[in-house]
Amino acid sequence: MDEPLLRMRNITKSFPGVLALKDVEFELHAGEIHAIIGENGAGKSTLMKVLLGIYQPDEGTIHLKGKPFHAKNPRNAQDQGISMIYQEFNLVPDLTVAENIFLAREQRRFHNLLIDDKAMLSETRKFIGSLGLDIDARLTINELSVAEKQMVEIIKALVVKSDILVLDEPTSALTEKEVQRLFSILERLKNEGVGIIYISHRMEELNTIADRVTVLRDGTFVATHEWKAVTVPNLIRMMIGRQLNDLFPYVPSKPGEVVFKAHNLNRSSFLKDVSLEARKGEILGLAGLMGAGRTEFARAVFGADRKDSGVIWMDGKEITTRSPHDAIRHGIAYLPEDRKKDGLFLELDIYDNILAGNLTQYSSKGIVNDSTCRAIVDKRIAELNVKTHSPRKIVKYLSGGNQQKVLLSRWFCKQAKLIIFDEPTRGIDVGAKSEIYQLMNKLKQAGAAIIMISSEMPEILGMSDRIAVMYEGRITGELTRAEATSEKVMALASNLAVKA
Ligand SMILES: Nc1ncnc2c1ncn2[C@@H]1O[C@H](COP(=O)(O)OP(=O)(O)OP(=O)(O)O)[C@@H](O)[C@H]1O
Ligand SMILES: [Mg+2]
Repeated sequence: MDEPLLRMRNITKSFPGVLALKDVEFELHAGEIHAIIGENGAGKSTLMKVLLGIYQPDEGTIHLKGKPFHAKNPRNAQDQGISMIYQEFNLVPDLTVAENIFLAREQRRFHNLLIDDKAMLSETRKFIGSLGLDIDARLTINELSVAEKQMVEIIKALVVKSDILVLDEPTSALTEKEVQRLFSILERLKNEGVGIIYISHRMEELNTIADRVTVLRDGTFVATHEWKAVTVPNLIRMMIGRQLNDLFPYVPSKPGEVVFKAHNLNRSSFLKDVSLEARKGEILGLAGLMGAGRTEFARAVFGADRKDSGVIWMDGKEITTRSPHDAIRHGIAYLPEDRKKDGLFLELDIYDNILAGNLTQYSSKGIVNDSTCRAIVDKRIAELNVKTHSPRKIVKYLSGGNQQKVLLSRWFCKQAKLIIFDEPTRGIDVGAKSEIYQLMNKLKQAGAAIIMISSEMPEILGMSDRIAVMYEGRITGELTRAEATSEKVMALASNLAVKA
C-alpha cells in the first residue's frame, strides 16, 4: 500500500478534567472520502482541531505526504494544504458574503494589495455561480438564513485549493438540493485527488458518499473500515457500545382537547392564511422544505416576529403574543433552530444555561434554592446524557451536540402547554436522539401539545401523531400518522398533487 496522504498517530489531547482524545489513529488517502463518526463528545471535532493547529496535541505525530506535519493555526494549516469547514460558523456577521469569502483568501493571493470592492464582488459572484449556487454576495452574513451561512462557510473553504478538506457536519442546515450540490462538488474534488474528511451524524448521507469510516468512542479509536464492509446497525453499536433497537420510540396516544389554535396567520410573503391546531398529548410534525415558512410560523406564534393578521387561541381563549414574554406567560415555549444565535449563553456554564429563564420556578420569595437547582441540573444532564465532567463547564467548550442538549434541557424545565421544537435533533448523535424522543414522549404523555418542526423525513414519520406540511408560507395538507408516507409528505412539501 502506498503512503497515505495523512497519517495521525497516537494522538492524545486533554482539557482540564477531560481526556478528549486518547491514542487516536487516523489515516487518509488521496482521493477518498473518509467519514468520522461517534457520539456527541466522542472527540471528532477535537481530532480535526488538532490537525488544523487550533489545539496542540499532548502526544502523537502527524505526517502529511510522508513528512512530519505541524500547523501553528488554521491559516498556517491552509497554507500547507489543509482546509476545514467548521461545525460552528466562523463568519463575520457584519461583513458581506464577498468580504467573508475574501477574508479567507486575501492574505494568500492579495497580500499587500488593496482589494477593490468591485473586483471582489465579481470574483465572488463568479465563484458562487460556478458552484451552481444562488446567494447575493452583497448581503451581510446577518441577513442570511442558516442554510445560506452554511453555504458561505463551504465556499470559503473551497476558494483555496487544498490537498485535504475537512468538513464538520456541513449539511445539518442544508436543503436536500443543496446537499446534492455539495456532494457533487465533493465528488469532483475527490476525483481531482483531494482527500476529504467528513464528520456527520447522518448515516443516509454517509451511505451515499463515504469510502471509508473511522469510529471514535469516548475519545478512543474503535476501528476503521471500508464503508461497504459494514452495516449501519453495526456502526451504531461501535459508536455507542450497545445495540439500539428503537431509533424512533413512538408511543401511541389518545390526543385530548385542542389547546392551541391559530387561524389565518399572515406575515408579508412568509405566512399566508396559516391555520393549525394542536391537541393535548400529541406530537404534531410540521414538515416542509427549508424556507417553507415553518420557522416563521413558530416565531409569529411565539411573538418573536410581528404578524400582519390572524388570531391565536390557548385553551379556548384568544391571546395576543406581542413578545416571547407574552407567549411564555400563556404557556408557549419555543426551541429555536439557530441555537447559537437565539438561545445559548456561550460564556456561561451549563448550570446557568439550563436554569436561565426558569429561576422563578425554583425560588421562593426571590431566593433561589441552590440545592434544588443543582438537583434539577444534575437530572437534566443525566437524562440527556450531556457529556461533561461538571455542570460548571462553560458551554462554549462543550462539543456541538452537547451544546444543543443543554439548550433542550432548559425547555424541559418549563411547564409549557405548547412546546414548539424547531429541528430538535439537528447535529445530535443517534443515541442522544432517541433520548430526546423519549423526553418528548414524556412531555406528550404529561399532556403537553408538541409541534415538531423537522426536515428529517424519518423523524417526521417516526415520531409524529399527525403531520402538517407547509409550502411557500401555506399549509398544503395534513396527514394522520397512519396515512403518512414519505412520498405523500414530499408531494405536499413541493406542492405536487398526490397521485392516487
Ligand atoms: N476547548 C475545550 N475545553 C474543554 N473541553 C473541551 C474543549 N474542546 C472540547 N472539549 C471536550 O472534549 C470532548 C470532545 O469534544 P468534541 O467537540 O471533539 O466532540 P465531537 O465528537 O465533535 O462531538 P459532537 O458530535 O457533539 O460535535 C468533549 O467532552 C468536550 O467537552
Ligand atoms: Mg463536533
